[in-house]
Amino acid sequence: MCSVRGFATGKELTANLVQHCAAGKGVNKMNYLNKKTVEDIDVAGKKVLVRCDFNVPFDGEGNISDPKRIDEALKTIKYLIDHKAKVILCSHLGRPKGEFNMKYSLAPVAAYLSKALGFEVKMASDVVGESAKSIAASLKDGEVELIENVRFHKEEEKNDPEFSKQLASLAEIYVNDAFGTAHRAHASTAGVADYLPAVCGYLIQKEITVMGGALEDPKRPFVAILGGAKVSDKIGVITNLLDKVDTLIIGGGMAYTFMKALGYSTGTSICELDKVELAKDIMTMAKDKGVSFLIPEDTVVGMEYKPDTEFKTVPSDQIEDNWMGLDIGPKTREKFANALVGAGTVVWNGPMGVSEWENFAAGTISVAKAVAESGAISIIGGGDSAAAVEKLGYADRMTHISTGGGASLEFLEGKVLPGIAALNDKN
Ligand code: 3PG
Repeated sequence: MCSVRGFATGKELTANLVQHCAAGKGVNKMNYLNKKTVEDIDVAGKKVLVRCDFNVPFDGEGNISDPKRIDEALKTIKYLIDHKAKVILCSHLGRPKGEFNMKYSLAPVAAYLSKALGFEVKMASDVVGESAKSIAASLKDGEVELIENVRFHKEEEKNDPEFSKQLASLAEIYVNDAFGTAHRAHASTAGVADYLPAVCGYLIQKEITVMGGALEDPKRPFVAILGGAKVSDKIGVITNLLDKVDTLIIGGGMAYTFMKALGYSTGTSICELDKVELAKDIMTMAKDKGVSFLIPEDTVVGMEYKPDTEFKTVPSDQIEDNWMGLDIGPKTREKFANALVGAGTVVWNGPMGVSEWENFAAGTISVAKAVAESGAISIIGGGDSAAAVEKLGYADRMTHISTGGGASLEFLEGKVLPGIAALNDKN
């Protein structure tokens, strides 16, 4: 529990921290593992609408550059095919703002799926129009349709009941396997569940089992590594994890706000001045809870925010004016790696520096290596840290790499994810 009453210093917490402590804690509120799955429902001969997260990146030539999210959806799709369902897939892609825009068409995903499955996935030219309906009506058992990007309709993101009903009318059963979008209460992720029997697929099941297990009953010591630019983006995760972890490691841009809170000069480093008091409270809270709280002791600083800027390493409390922190330094890399030795569970979300620039990638690379070598149950939140692990070739050595960026963050914050809450309970 993130108990404000348990805060022993007698010092006033910032209003912000009190708010964050009082909110959330949803992991304990909702029994995720009690949700029905595809195996709890008879799908043979039935039309099954499956919400996937096919929001995949493309290269400059329009090719899918990372198909992980599609690959991860295949287990559920193949199960439904093998069990003679008529499969109707749906997803969003990008943010087309409620308008038909072929730049965001799911047609390349249909082509990828057709190759992966070895037969044609029938691509509809609309979402709930004549094309989607007639293909759905003509599907034979084991056949697969993909309807167009649900975000071509503005009603999708508004979770409009009429649009949800139209989606539901395509099918007899709803399966949500879009973990990456489960934090959105949209028509295809939540609203549609009001009109059909609603269960989860294998990907959602895997994500909530692994991440939920780590939060509920972690193998100890439990170490969390948080990076990324802003304290404000991670405050929910920090307060939730402070109740659960043995060690909390802070790197990336948000470390400079903590340094400022310790009275260090941070030069031109990214720093949220309005979060300095909050950072102080977080450190006090960590101390009160007996959580080992690590921030960088040395920092790679650059003159400008540019990949080829002049750079050097300095102690973290000696960042001069006109220099900005862009990565953790070598002593910190060693300290963070040592903190992972013997860990039972490691959760990592967010890069340690500007990892897309070679001169400032060493911190993120060393953390990726240390997590891979730790032998711990290792869980990588989606987004940049997941991309770093994949790029560096450590993916196979991690227990779990989440397919959700925002969704995994909200899950780690302890929030209830609407796309999962909407599904039917086993009892
Ligand atoms: C993601 O990429 O995080 C998900 O697909 C959700 O996309 P969104 O942030 O556009 O809702």
